Amino acid sequence: MNLQHIKVALDERSYDITLGAGILDTVGPLCRDLGLSGTAAVVSNTTVAPLYYDLVRASMEAAGYRVVPVSLPDGEGYKNSDTLNLIYDALVDASLDRGSFILALGGGVIGDMAGFAAASYLRGIPFVQLPTTLLSQVDSSVGGKTGINHPRGKNLIGAFYQPKAVLIDVATLDTLPEREFLCGLGEIVKYGVVLDGEFFDFLDKNASLLLARDKDALIHTVSRSCAIKAAVVAEDEREGGVRAVLNYGHTLGHAVETLTGYTRYLHGEAVAIGIVQAARISQHFGFCSQADRDRIEGLVKALGLPTELPPFSAAQYLEALSHDKKVRQSGLLFICNQGVGAYRMERLKDLTALLEICGIGE
Ligand code: NAD
Ligand code: GLY
Repeated sequence: MNLQHIKVALDERSYDITLGAGILDTVGPLCRDLGLSGTAAVVSNTTVAPLYYDLVRASMEAAGYRVVPVSLPDGEGYKNSDTLNLIYDALVDASLDRGSFILALGGGVIGDMAGFAAASYLRGIPFVQLPTTLLSQVDSSVGGKTGINHPRGKNLIGAFYQPKAVLIDVATLDTLPEREFLCGLGEIVKYGVVLDGEFFDFLDKNASLLLARDKDALIHTVSRSCAIKAAVVAEDEREGGVRAVLNYGHTLGHAVETLTGYTRYLHGEAVAIGIVQAARISQHFGFCSQADRDRIEGLVKALGLPTELPPFSAAQYLEALSHDKKVRQSGLLFICNQGVGAYRMERLKDLTALLEICGIGE
């Protein structure tokens, strides 16, 4: 199997992202190579476990591990303390000790929850990410943000806790529903727009191959995305500075999710809208040309993602924006694109003017 390795350089918390088609068959030996011992709790959900748990279990058992399955209900609505308790219960029931570890098999919801369980169970046991959605392969499994939602907000409870490894099997994308697949492409466009112009060009040229889930195009796309994210995380693990660039497109994206009650748009779709609006704002401020803006919007459209803000009033958008984690007393930290492939961060106080640029008036 042709494997690619990307290092996330964080001193003693450094780890490798290993990527290939079919890697789930070799999870057992790879965990042995990492020096992991004891029991492996495989945290997954009722959608992913029937597809991939047996593969993981067989490889782990062949490598001599005791394996304990933990299957959770599927959905963002279950990313909460009740479900987290189900994980703790299963770990206690199976007498997992400090010498044991967790495998997080699923999308970002599973990765975030299983990672937080690993961070907190017995004050921390090792875990490995086995991401199975495009979004989790290019974003959430890398960088150590773990956690759950609180009834009053998304991801309010959590910890920075790095995995021991991220093992990405792009073959798992074969079973991913189309809409979920497109969501991952939204986050991928983000990397190109603000951090890597050449990658943007690649995405632009290969949009139809990506939509057809061509393996080579996907492997390049996932590995380049991981390398970009790994470099950002290595520079700023706890989002004190540059890591905020990963929130490009997310400010208005989150507002859209809030206003539509997290039901109409999936996260990546809301981010796609946010990217197009951020490009519009960047062009308004003179940070990019109309041609740059058109290219960004063109790629988002070509990838089958939405671009238009849903029709809510300026007052409603202002209210939604005021809940944004990135709003500080000094204004909203807004990530703009500088041309295509670079970024600049702006503190914006006049959010009414910001919304007017996007065509949202009183
Ligand atoms: P998800 O985990 O809900 O997965 C989407 C759907 O696809 C689910 O129904 C899931 O069961 C199903 N699925 C997963 N893999 C599959 C496969 N291979 N085949 C068929 N179905 C499959 O959603 P997501 O988009 O992966 O993740 C979203 C979550 O990630 C959110 O909770 C978000 O807050 C979080 N997130 C975290 C970070 C981070 O840095 N930690 C970054 C971005 C997003
Ligand atoms: N998804 C944003 C981050 O990991 O910082």
